[in-house]
Amino acid sequence: MFQTRITEMLGIEYPLVGGTMMWISTPEFVAAVSNGGGLGVLASVMYESREAFATAIDRVYDLTDKPFAVNINLFPISRPVDNRLYLDVAIEKGVRIVETSGHAAPEDLCSRFKEAGLIWIHKCVGIRYAVKAQNLGADIITVVGYENGGATGKLDIGTMVLVPCVSQAVDVPIIGGGGVSDGRGFLAVLALGAEGVIVGTRLLITQEAPIHDDLKRALLQAREVDTMLIMRSIGATHRVWANAAARRCAELEKEQAGLAEILQIVAGDRAKRMYDAGALDEGVISCGQCVGLIHDIPTVKELFDRIITQASDITKRLADS
Ligand SMILES: Cc1cc2nc3c(=O)[nH]c(=O)nc-3n(C[C@H](O)[C@H](O)[C@H](O)COP(=O)(O)O)c2cc1C
Repeated sequence: MFQTRITEMLGIEYPLVGGTMMWISTPEFVAAVSNGGGLGVLASVMYESREAFATAIDRVYDLTDKPFAVNINLFPISRPVDNRLYLDVAIEKGVRIVETSGHAAPEDLCSRFKEAGLIWIHKCVGIRYAVKAQNLGADIITVVGYENGGATGKLDIGTMVLVPCVSQAVDVPIIGGGGVSDGRGFLAVLALGAEGVIVGTRLLITQEAPIHDDLKRALLQAREVDTMLIMRSIGATHRVWANAAARRCAELEKEQAGLAEILQIVAGDRAKRMYDAGALDEGVISCGQCVGLIHDIPTVKELFDRIITQASDITKRLADS
């Protein structure tokens, strides 16, 4: 059940993709997602050298024989990054699937994707971006709606409308998400026209997610109203968990603070300290509204099996009604 063009193209058991998550999409976590039957995506931008990235890819190969992808980050970040180097390493290492995500489609890289015979997935948040990526040669488009954890863009279209609009606008298969925590959301996104479903926030609260247990427990208590949007004033809107750091960021934005002050609060190293030490107000963490639907801390495999079973049960119930 639930075999689609996406499962076929990517060679995965379930049409489930583990959303790239900065500092979290480590080789171990990526392998857990792929071994769970979905597609794990390694975040290249976490690695500051060619060698470190190559070692990380080797580690994924050690931990799984299942397909996985590499994410190429197109969001602005504080250190200079040459994505061509990451791409070179990924190709040398035999990676077959690349995902791009960020503020603009990678016009300079897409011919390399084709020459190397990669399957190119581009993630975006709007119909016109999806069409542009398809025109540039993307094989698969991922779209995530306004309720998603992480970048929400500036169009503010919810998953319920975004997924069917994009599935009508492009011919390539699409992966949809933003708000999916369980089999109900999974099935809904497929019903809306997607052939794969991306899950981010739900995976934060799994056994394998490399964040401190105190942070997992705090997120477990969070409700659907406990997220907020920050960084709109600097053109980088993100939906995050509404902790003290996020509220401080929003205050600074209201006071029209400068970029440097805002970046200090949202800095990646602060987030990393929060993830590692469980210091809950140290930094900001992306988090979607579906955090309010999460009530336990399963393994990734238990979660994926449960999503599929629940979606199958609902399908049968609807067919019998
Ligand atoms: C903690 C966290 C970190 C994320 N980091 C990234 C990232 O570095 N790059 C990216 O493209 N998306 C990132 N995302 C977005 C996810 O890949 C995915 O698109 C999103 O979480 C899906 O929506 P959901 O959270 O409602 O499931 C992140 C999401 C979370 C929750």
